[in-house]
Amino acid sequence: MEQRKILLREDEIPRQWYNILADIAMNPPLGPDGNPITPDQLAPVFPMNLIEQEVSQERWIDIPDGVLDVLKIWRPAPLVRARGLEKALDTPARIYFKNESLSPPGSHKPNTAVAQAYYNKEFGIKKITTETGAGQWGSALSFACAHFGLECKIYMVRISFDQKPYRKSMMAAWGGNCVASPSPNTKAGQTALERDPNTPGSLGIAISEAIEEAVSDESGQTRYSLGSVLNHVLLHQTIIGLEAKKQMEKINEYPDIIIGCAGGGSNFAGLALPFVHDKINGKQIEIYPVEPAACPTLTKAPFVYDHGDTARYTPLLAMHSLGHAFVPPPIHSGGLRYHGMAPIVSQLVDEGILEPKSVKQNQVFEAGVLTARSEGIIPAPETNHALATVVDEARKAKEEGKEKVILFNWSGHGLLDLTAYDNYFAGNIKDIDLSNEEITNAEKVFADFPKPAHVKHE
Ligand SMILES: Cc1ncc(COP(=O)(O)O)c(C=O)c1O
Repeated sequence: MEQRKILLREDEIPRQWYNILADIAMNPPLGPDGNPITPDQLAPVFPMNLIEQEVSQERWIDIPDGVLDVLKIWRPAPLVRARGLEKALDTPARIYFKNESLSPPGSHKPNTAVAQAYYNKEFGIKKITTETGAGQWGSALSFACAHFGLECKIYMVRISFDQKPYRKSMMAAWGGNCVASPSPNTKAGQTALERDPNTPGSLGIAISEAIEEAVSDESGQTRYSLGSVLNHVLLHQTIIGLEAKKQMEKINEYPDIIIGCAGGGSNFAGLALPFVHDKINGKQIEIYPVEPAACPTLTKAPFVYDHGDTARYTPLLAMHSLGHAFVPPPIHSGGLRYHGMAPIVSQLVDEGILEPKSVKQNQVFEAGVLTARSEGIIPAPETNHALATVVDEARKAKEEGKEKVILFNWSGHGLLDLTAYDNYFAGNIKDIDLSNEEITNAEKVFADFPKPAHVKHE
């Protein structure tokens, strides 16, 4: 019988995260005075134990037992051979995916939500604020906060709040309090609403609102949490790639190509970084982060210093950015509507270690539907971006007659994204490609900021 799932036993779960900061050089985040930010300056926003992780240079960081106990609700996650998709595409490629849709909230996001809630609790914090795009992150953090007895407040980007009402119900079931962003509750929200009362919102605005609420709590017991982009978030997600590596070793496979969708970069990096470690040490692998053509951060925007949020509360991060004021078109993949990108992913793109790709919306849903029909699981629209590239690469392997091994990350299921599928079936999905003029206009906001150096690993 053909093997479909490659499983790990519970005692084979990785016990350490991989920290790529031990292996690459990065431009530091800059504070308001233009100097590298100090841990003390971040202390009102994040608990110090997470700030220490953010800047740690240790290659391996122990995963606390209190985190592993919760992760074991769904981890280790299976590695699946996508035999149905291979058959549908009649390709000689062998396609594997990590199924991150099996977590209770339905995506990879709880891998870091659980760790962040744990560290906040350890530090004596009582309440966490955050933003969410598609709602996956807000549900994940609500789920994690419920485990550790923390209060959770979520600012959900307006367009997704309207498109996915049941995400709010899910957050409520775990005790989270979700409001639409921009909201009238914060200065950042009020400014955005004055600028455009009908704005679809953006992750940049929602981040500003959540930071503002955290730092204005005079009790000092509230902190902010980010679901992507930052070094410690990517660190927590490396459990995906570390498990995948062990699973591939069990069947004597190694990927030629690694693919993940990239919004802020966390699920992609979680799968890819342990393999980037091998690539830096000489392995031949092609590694593709995939983004929407409607929000082409890695493929069209420059590597610059810019803020992570619209109201400019965050430090300047060295990243690919479309400009902190950019409001991406209202595509159905809320999780990919972000103006910036993780500094680690941006740095690796700048060094030429990763090769970003962009895909259009109809191609994305076509790949998602083909995969739902051949594999059985309905993917999140974000995951469909990875799938569009998997389909392209599998077809290329067929044309070239090559037995390529493709590994991709199934970042989430789409069971609460069915409006998006309905729109696709009704022919209402538009292929949005940002014009060069729109991009040049959006980029004006960082023209006067310092420029990052083009550094390379040793
Ligand atoms: C299912 C899913 N995939 C991917 C993403 C993109 O985020 P990231 O690039 O941080 O993985 C999101 C974000 O909300 C998501 O919900």
